[in-house]
Amino acid sequence: MSPAATIPPITITDADQDGLFSQDLISEVVSATLPEGYKLRALRRTDYNSGFLDCLRVLTTVGDVSEEKFQKQFDNMLAQDSYYIICIEDTSREKNSVVATGALIVEHKFIHSLGKVGHIEDIAVAKDQQGKKLGLRLIQALDHVAEKIGCYKSILDCSDANEGFYVKCGFRRAGLQMAHYY
Ligand code: ACO
Repeated sequence: MSPAATIPPITITDADQDGLFSQDLISEVVSATLPEGYKLRALRRTDYNSGFLDCLRVLTTVGDVSEEKFQKQFDNMLAQDSYYIICIEDTSREKNSVVATGALIVEHKFIHSLGKVGHIEDIAVAKDQQGKKLGLRLIQALDHVAEKIGCYKSILDCSDANEGFYVKCGFRRAGLQMAHYY
């Protein structure tokens, strides 16, 4: 991207005040690379019917989540101040305007001088929007948040089928994942 002076500032609307985190953490550089009419923003309490949950259904089962439970979960996350869920919205659509989403969850540690580690989770792009670099922009935007809030690294787990995508996003294989399912 060319010099900062040519990057348009992000337009902040009243609705952005209801975001899970401050719109100040959204990268102007990444925003400027989105297709025309697309907007990067924080998840909002009002996103129950916005297409956000439908995006997640591309990734896995969401279950039967009521609006009340959605808002309660949002409020829990807001109170913890460690959840950064980002959305890409197609502002030309009236319904299902959220077309991609991803999360950064911040772990606070005692090691590395009370260091912070970012965990990248639940990256999902709506089926009909895949292949437009929206996945890449989500990761770049979450990387920007992680760096800005002082994480010394970000890590994620993915399937072998998605390794190539994360390599394109600048990640490299490191270690081995193990799990207990309950
Ligand atoms: N394997 C290899 N390369 C890939 C893959 C893949 N599975 N997917 C995309 N790429 C490449 C693209 O070809 C592109 O390469 P290029 O720059 O050479 O053209 C580059 O990665 C960027 O691709 P995007 O267009 O940004 O990818 P997209 O917007 O389609 O998003 C994603 C990719 C997130 C994997 C999407 O397909 C998706 O939502 N899949 C279903 C849900 C899912 O599996 N999410 C990831 C779970 S892991 C986690 O959440 C930590």
